[in-house]
Amino acid sequence: MHIIAISNRKGGTGKTTVSVNLAAEMAYSGLRVLLIDLDSQGHCAVGLGLKLQKGEPCSHQLFVEPAISLSATIHSTLVDNLWLSPADPLFDHGSGQRDDQRLKRAIQDEALHERFDLILIDTPPSLDALLFNGLQAATRVLIPYVPHPLSFEGVRQLVRVLFKVMTRENRELKILGFLPNMVAEHVRQHRQVNSEVGRQFGAQRVLPGIRNDIRLAEAFAAGKPIRAYAPGCRGALDFLELAKEIREGLNGTATRPVI
Ligand SMILES: Nc1ncnc2c1ncn2[C@@H]1O[C@H](COP(=O)(O)OP(=O)(O)O)[C@@H](O)[C@H]1O
Ligand SMILES: [Mg+2]
Repeated sequence: MHIIAISNRKGGTGKTTVSVNLAAEMAYSGLRVLLIDLDSQGHCAVGLGLKLQKGEPCSHQLFVEPAISLSATIHSTLVDNLWLSPADPLFDHGSGQRDDQRLKRAIQDEALHERFDLILIDTPPSLDALLFNGLQAATRVLIPYVPHPLSFEGVRQLVRVLFKVMTRENRELKILGFLPNMVAEHVRQHRQVNSEVGRQFGAQRVLPGIRNDIRLAEAFAAGKPIRAYAPGCRGALDFLELAKEIREGLNGTATRPVI
């Protein structure tokens, strides 16, 4: 079973949009998918239309309550085959004992590979125990970025962190790809940034991008994946293509190498 962390040190690059829509697309294709939201903004639940009652178990409790299981935090969603371990919007980042392996152990100890075919983790931009828990548990990392010169620094910063994790704590971790998001093909600057990312990290690692589509923001606000909200729109087509590409990559049928 693959575990994909969706990560970027910069906020607003589309981590949550990609997490929710890629998870939904994989679930539509028949895979049993668990999305774990580690970002205490708690936006994955919003994007999936899940209204949590006060006191309902959330992913973050794992880091403050030794007795709680990850399974106890898993909620079903309106999308068949898609489950969510939502974030706790009230999580205090300084609380609890630091344990970067907590999530990884929970996934193993609770044998979640028997219940799910794929796990996606939405990570916070902060450089803290939550991000490291995501990166330690993951087998792959997907990096959405906005092709703008200022976002390039966020990618570089994350890659520095990744190489540390990949060479020390989690040797199984590989970069699945860099995903240009909010792409407007006609903007020359976008092409320049994408080719710069390709030049630095390998052109084959730049995935087919997600175009700018206001419907993605609308779908999110309506609490639905893009395919349920506006099937056939640009954003829906791009996520369909991305999911296909990633499935082929993970199955080893694509030519794209994973580092
Ligand atoms: N491809 C896209 N086209 C249009 N709007 C997008 C796209 N991707 C993300 N957005 C919007 O951009 C904002 C930031 O995206 P979000 O997924 O919350 O980023 P992050 O989780 O990295 O902070 C949100 O309002 C979201 O709806
Ligand atoms: Mg987010």
